[in-house]
Amino acid sequence: MADYVIETWELSKQYEGRGGCKNVTLQVPRGSVFGFLGQNGAGKSTFVRTLLGLLHPTGGKGVMLGEPIGSVESRQKVGYLPELFRYPDWLTGQQLLEHHAELCGLSSSTRKTVIRDVVARVGLAGREKERIRGYSKGMQQRIGLACALLSDPELIFLDEPTSALDPIGRKEVRELIAELRDQGKTIFLNSHLLSEMESVCDHVGIIHRGELVVHGEWKKLNAVLPQVELTLGNDSEAALEQLPSFVQQKSRVKSEAELEQWLVTLDGEGRVPQLLEALLARGVAVHEVVRKRQSLEEVFLYWVQRKEGEAHVADHENHV
Ligand SMILES: Nc1ncnc2c1ncn2[C@@H]1O[C@H](COP(=O)(O)OP(=O)(O)O)[C@@H](O)[C@H]1O
Ligand SMILES: [Mg+2]
Repeated sequence: MADYVIETWELSKQYEGRGGCKNVTLQVPRGSVFGFLGQNGAGKSTFVRTLLGLLHPTGGKGVMLGEPIGSVESRQKVGYLPELFRYPDWLTGQQLLEHHAELCGLSSSTRKTVIRDVVARVGLAGREKERIRGYSKGMQQRIGLACALLSDPELIFLDEPTSALDPIGRKEVRELIAELRDQGKTIFLNSHLLSEMESVCDHVGIIHRGELVVHGEWKKLNAVLPQVELTLGNDSEAALEQLPSFVQQKSRVKSEAELEQWLVTLDGEGRVPQLLEALLARGVAVHEVVRKRQSLEEVFLYWVQRKEGEAHVADHENHV
């Protein structure tokens, strides 16, 4: 049986019937880095705060680490780095962690070792005696993460962990996420910064206007519309015109003296050999075939546009 750390069924939290998130059904596998992606205002923070019991659902239900959401038990092994957190910056990193450790109920005997451990884990060893005021944004994010890690959580929520950071800070946070994953943690990551999330997420959910558009393994979503770049002998256009219907789109990238380059979109996995057979059968010289990987941004736009298309059809039907 699949091992999920989060499972929701039609979970909704709306504000007086509007906004928030609506009917979200998803599963987050243990040990994954789950990217919850959507534009600003899509409903990401609302969803996370509902899972954490900070907001009360207006519909549906959810289970987190085997316990119903909203229960104290469900959040015992959970760490949370809220969006746009601000800590009192006159404190040193060490002092901040001591306050948090107290809040987490860590006994004074274990506190010191636990703090030393998290400080090392977020890469701040040697800097914890400095005031937070003097920290770079990346270091501030790290100290926030250290707070979220104090209780040694199995599941960690990071709400827009990189949106305030410069490229170096972003890279540091990505590395930290990968380290946490390697330590066996599950990470649930809210972000509107798609291109950044690509390298670090293995699962993604795409939320748009409060509704989950698609979710699953990034590898599989990425393969939804396979594309190949073909370099063909000239006069290939006529042959391409007659290609079978599994070719969804084609466009000429460039043509040189003897060669033409095309970008071809296929309707599913496993079509590449068929495409090549069809071309060879028509006597086209195939010089090069390059499989194009789509970016998270392209996949995101594909699903959102599909969703918008559905919405338009529905609107239209409603109006007739
Ligand atoms: N406290 C609130 N009261 C009313 N509407 C809210 C409240 N919080 C969020 N919303 C609305 O719900 C939607 C989703 O917000 P949010 O969950 O913050 O999105 P995201 O985190 O993806 O940017 C937005 O349209 C926002 O305006
Ligand atoms: Mg948010």
